[in-house]
Order: sequence, then C-alpha cells, then structure tokens
Amino acid sequence: MKLLDGRVVSQAVKDRLKTQTEERLIQGKKVPHLAAILIGNNGASETYVASKVKSCAEVGFKSTLIRLDGSVTEQDLLFKLGELNEDFDIDGILVQLPLPKHISEEKVIEAICASKDVDGFHPESVGRMVQGLPAFYPATPYGILLLLEHYGIETKGKHAVVIGRSNIVGRPISIMLSKNEYPGNCTVTVCHSHTTGLKEICLQGDIIIAALGRPEFLKADMVKEGAVIVDVGITRVPDATKKSGFTIKGDVDFDAVFPKCSYITPVPGGVGPMTIAALMMNTFKACKAKD
Ligand code: GUN
Repeated sequence: MKLLDGRVVSQAVKDRLKTQTEERLIQGKKVPHLAAILIGNNGASETYVASKVKSCAEVGFKSTLIRLDGSVTEQDLLFKLGELNEDFDIDGILVQLPLPKHISEEKVIEAICASKDVDGFHPESVGRMVQGLPAFYPATPYGILLLLEHYGIETKGKHAVVIGRSNIVGRPISIMLSKNEYPGNCTVTVCHSHTTGLKEICLQGDIIIAALGRPEFLKADMVKEGAVIVDVGITRVPDATKKSGFTIKGDVDFDAVFPKCSYITPVPGGVGPMTIAALMMNTFKACKAKD
C-alpha cells in the first residue's frame, strides 16, 4: 500500500502556479487576487481560511481577508459581495461555509458572480460541470482528481463508491468520476444515509471516496483487497492529551484499512492540502480569463 500524499502533490501544484504567476508579472499581466469572507469565529473555518490566505502568499497571489461578525445581516453580506463582484482587481471570491443560521447559503452562493466563483458552488458552475463544459470545479473534488492523476491511478472501468452526497464533495465527485475522460470513466455508486447494504456496496468498490463526516466510519471489513481509498473526513474529536484539546480524525479507520488497500490518503495531509491547491488553480484560472 502506498500513501496518496496530499502535502507533496499540493506543493508541486503550488510551485507550478508560483512560476506561472512570476511569468505573468514579467509580462506585465495582472496577478491573481482572492477575496475570502470569514463570518463569526468557528475554529475550523478560521484554520481553513488562514491556510487559504497563506497559500495565496506562497504562490504570489494577492489576497484580501474580510472578517465579519457572526451577527452580520444577510443584507450586509450580500452588499459586500456586490462590491467584490464589481471590483475588477478581485478575481475570485469565497465565502467560508458553514454560515450562521440566519443567513441563506443559497442566496449567498448565488450572489457571487459566476466568473469569480472559485469555490465552484454557484448553480451556473455546477450546471456547466455536469454538462462537461469548462467550469470551476469545487475545490475538494477537483483536488481529489489532481491527486489521482498525479499518482497515475487507473480509473477507467473502475467501480467508484462515493459515501456522502453533499453539494461540496459527494455529489460533484460522483459526477466528475463518471466523466468521459481521465480521471473518470468510472461506474459510480453514490451511498448516503438511506442506502441499504452499504457494506456490500463498499466491498465492490475499486475506489472508495469516504465523504460523510463520521470519524473512522469505513472499517477494514468494508474494503476490498487492493482498493484505492480517499478519505475526505476532517472531524475534530475531543482529545485531552492534545494542547489544542482535539485531534483530527478522518472517515476511514486508517490503521486497520491501510494494510488492505493499494493506495490511501492520510488525514491530515491527504485531501485537505489538495483542496487548497485546487482553489489556487481556480483563482489563477479566473484571473487568466481576464487577459
Ligand atoms: N467549508 C467546507 N469546505 C469548504 C470549501 O471548499 N469552501 C468554502 N467556501 N467553505 C467550505
């Protein structure tokens, strides 16, 4: 078994983007600029947004972090998005999810101009992706594809089992893996909370994408010998022995599954860094589209 090392691959993606950004500067072209909106003080969201801003600096992008109080009104947030949409220098806009309960996720996502939708959550981006048109792919599934591609994992004719049907990961990755090009051409089964016979379905999976958000859910007896395992879970589990008070757990029982599979992503250091690399790719693309 071999690790699908998201840290190494994301660094390679970012190194490439850094070179391309330097080339743009030399050519007198615009440097990519990402605007990130962080609402309230959710610890996990703080960490993710900080990583996104840090990655922008690493690759030579500009970034603007807009922090809004958890009590911000939906109207004020929509107004801010309107300003960012109008600002030519801003290429990509992301609003970190989840949002406070009083704000409609749907309205916020739809308020982002589709040409700046680097998260790939806007219905126009999703529709284009489903139809196989050029589109911003959502960062986590896109990062998974980049990882599979980097390691040359065969996907054609394989049975991919996706556990979870969220708009952010499960649903889009199921569509992307069924596309008629590499990395795709999989036969895809999407499993969710109402799936019966989940274990038997998982046992048929050549590739399993675990994206349900339940720590160590996927056990060794659910995995076929030689399967490729992609663990999207990143749940904070209380741990008194850690200074932070928590430990990060994936959706896969890593130690038990590791000896059975051919490839597996670790948590942390697997899908997480790839999500950020994919976001940087989308931001670069949004900027390049203005050339
Ligand atoms: N929350 C969890 N994942 C994501 C993501 O990819 N983008 C945003 N904006 N919020 C998230």
